[in-house]
Amino acid sequence: MINIFNFNDIISIKDLKREDIDFIIDEALKLEKIAASEEKSDILDGKILGMMFFEPSTRTKLSFETAMKRLGGECIGFENSITSSVSKGESIADTAKMFEAYCDGLVIRHEMEGVSKFISDIVNVPVINAGDGASQHPTQTLLDLYTIKKEFKDINNLKIALIGDLKYGRTVHSLAYALGLYNTEMYFVSPKELQMPDEILHDLEKNKIKFHKKEDLKEIVDKVDVLYVTRIQKERFGDEEEYQKIKGAYKIDKNLIEGKDLIVMHPLPRIDEIDADIDNTKYNKYFEQAFNAVPVRMAILKNLIK
Ligand code: NCD
Repeated sequence: MINIFNFNDIISIKDLKREDIDFIIDEALKLEKIAASEEKSDILDGKILGMMFFEPSTRTKLSFETAMKRLGGECIGFENSITSSVSKGESIADTAKMFEAYCDGLVIRHEMEGVSKFISDIVNVPVINAGDGASQHPTQTLLDLYTIKKEFKDINNLKIALIGDLKYGRTVHSLAYALGLYNTEMYFVSPKELQMPDEILHDLEKNKIKFHKKEDLKEIVDKVDVLYVTRIQKERFGDEEEYQKIKGAYKIDKNLIEGKDLIVMHPLPRIDEIDADIDNTKYNKYFEQAFNAVPVRMAILKNLIK
């Protein structure tokens, strides 16, 4: 496959075409051995990746760092605004300009929608959106699709349920758009209060993507190939009482899925949506997803950092 990946930044999954996604998946497959430390690489020797994490992260930050280091590069950065000069009142723009001076690429996570885009407009190094508020998380989607592709060999002709907080969950927002590029049928399962935003539903309808809105998990569990489960995004609720009413809305346990032909995915962290009983079963693909973050983010870094 020739390199058709022409991006300077990765901000929204909506910027990517199906060919771009397929290219990254293909690249990631080739990097698996390096990701697993079975082979060595120095493709990004001498390059430095800047990590600006204003919101908590475990997998995203660690897997970007692992990906960069496995390719021979290095990382610098902060993991909350308290330890950076933002806490002294420095603007995000000034902070980003400093990172631009020190790094060859930037990974940004922020609680506000649009921050990565804003920064990408003022710096001359590649910017990767690692989550902007409730909006988008494009690189999570790429590793989700990679996991699906490895499992089913093809992303087409699958029925996929996105479950949980579809209102505030940025992973499911990006994933819904990306799955819409393939021949898939989606089930959006959520409490009424946490449905997929109208704007996304409207975009999917416009593109004639098949989807169904549901509240009852039992209704769909026999119909789908993938249960993509998400956590209720507590930090995005204005009102703690609202969160208390909705938390624990869905629970995937052995009782629900035993005997069914499906896999369970989750971007993690999980709170109580997936019973630990599932961890040691064939249904569990969420830990594999966490590993897959490394080859996929390696593929992104390799093609973005010049
Ligand atoms: C997700 C996120 O930050 O949006 N986590 C991740 O990157 N794997 C999901 C979440 O926090 O619920």
